[in-house]
Amino acid sequence: MHNDISEILFSEQDLAIRVRELGEAITRDYADVAGDAGIVVVSILRGGAVFTCDLIRAIDLPLEVDFMAVSSYGNGAKSSGVVRILKDLSTDIRGRHVVIAEGIIDSGLTLKYLLKNLQSREPASLTVAALMRKDTPAQADIPCRYIGFECPDEFIVGYGLDFAEHYRNLPYIGVLKPEIYQ
Ligand code: PRP
Ligand code: MG
Repeated sequence: MHNDISEILFSEQDLAIRVRELGEAITRDYADVAGDAGIVVVSILRGGAVFTCDLIRAIDLPLEVDFMAVSSYGNGAKSSGVVRILKDLSTDIRGRHVVIAEGIIDSGLTLKYLLKNLQSREPASLTVAALMRKDTPAQADIPCRYIGFECPDEFIVGYGLDFAEHYRNLPYIGVLKPEIYQ
């Protein structure tokens, strides 16, 4: 285990099993509507990238994957509440079945903004697959169809999630020692 981590919350194996289950659920739920065009998985960079790569390989349907980069945290430990689009989609999602793949819901502000933004492009449907949902007081009410794990309100990193751009490459999700971010 990395020296800056106090505890592993979800092991590499826990993640593999759960992501596979989410992929199977999406496969079942979209089998009738996917058609030849398939669904569009919108990956939210950067925290959702690792989850997305595993998730799409667990979905047995035609699909396109596209990426959107947004940032609300910068290098801080708290959400600024201001969401900036750093990179927009290349795909026109109008009339498409879209699944957003996000690493974590914390305050919910990022997804609240994204849902409104993507809905305005008139997709055929729009749902959220979030690997983690933090048990945070006053979280925005986000309709999230697929959730990997509920997690405690601690600073967690790994499997795509960072603190100040570090730890994204850890294969597990762990709790960051408070002395690292305080
Ligand atoms: C993180 C994370 C989510 C968002 C969740 O993104 O990847 O996108 O915060 O927090 P919220 O529910 O409070 O909005 P961040 O802004 O740190 O960018 P990153 O994904 O590039 O690390
Ligand atoms: Mg971040």
